[in-house]
Amino acid sequence: MNDIDEIMEKYQFGKQMLETEIDILIKEFASTHGYNPVEHVKSRIKSKKSINEKLVRKNLAITTVNIVNHLVDIIGIRIVCSFIPDVYDIVSTISQSKNIIIKERKDYIASPKKSGYSSYHLIVFVPIYLKGKVEYVPAEIQIRTVAMDFWASLDHKIQYKFEGNTIPDEVEEELYKYSRAINELDTRMMNLNELMKKYKKEF
Ligand code: GTP
Ligand code: MG
Repeated sequence: MNDIDEIMEKYQFGKQMLETEIDILIKEFASTHGYNPVEHVKSRIKSKKSINEKLVRKNLAITTVNIVNHLVDIIGIRIVCSFIPDVYDIVSTISQSKNIIIKERKDYIASPKKSGYSSYHLIVFVPIYLKGKVEYVPAEIQIRTVAMDFWASLDHKIQYKFEGNTIPDEVEEELYKYSRAINELDTRMMNLNELMKKYKKEF
């Protein structure tokens, strides 16, 4: 097995480890609170093609050392929740896990990106056990609402269409407006959900 295959295998183990840990955390949360805040979870390993493209974008030579030292999102997990408070509940549940080490937090819900993108990102380390030794591999966890996920997927499709060329201003402006509209909708749905808690007992 060459270097790159060996490294990719480690990321594969890391992904499995993280998927299992997150699955258990969500089930524990659901049984404690009698409510499952997660709509769905998706995970992926970055393809070799995307890894190469990212290294080129970062002006780095395509070497395994650069992959290990500079890329923290080879393992990606996306957790899609119903409401904004659910996102923060999941963040705090992950933060309490002894098996996940948090390296960095980016709250793009409190401070959306210029594009309008919102999500909560965690860069974490997960342990993998190989030949009796423990090693840590990095991963990126994106936590967002269904509405944020809808926006991000539309944005992604549009970016893909322009393939690295600049997106026309009018398209960018329109997308930004939708991100604000989605944020307003998320806030109203959150308020309605709070209101519903008042009526819950009566049914
Ligand atoms: P990258 O070099 O892309 O990894 O950026 P970064 O290291 O500054 O991390 P950041 O948290 O900004 O973004 C990482 C990931 O978030 C991306 O790979 C996308 O999946 C997602 N993301 C960030 N910005 C946007 C955006 O404007 N639109 C969409 N659709 N996704 C985004
Ligand atoms: Mg990144």
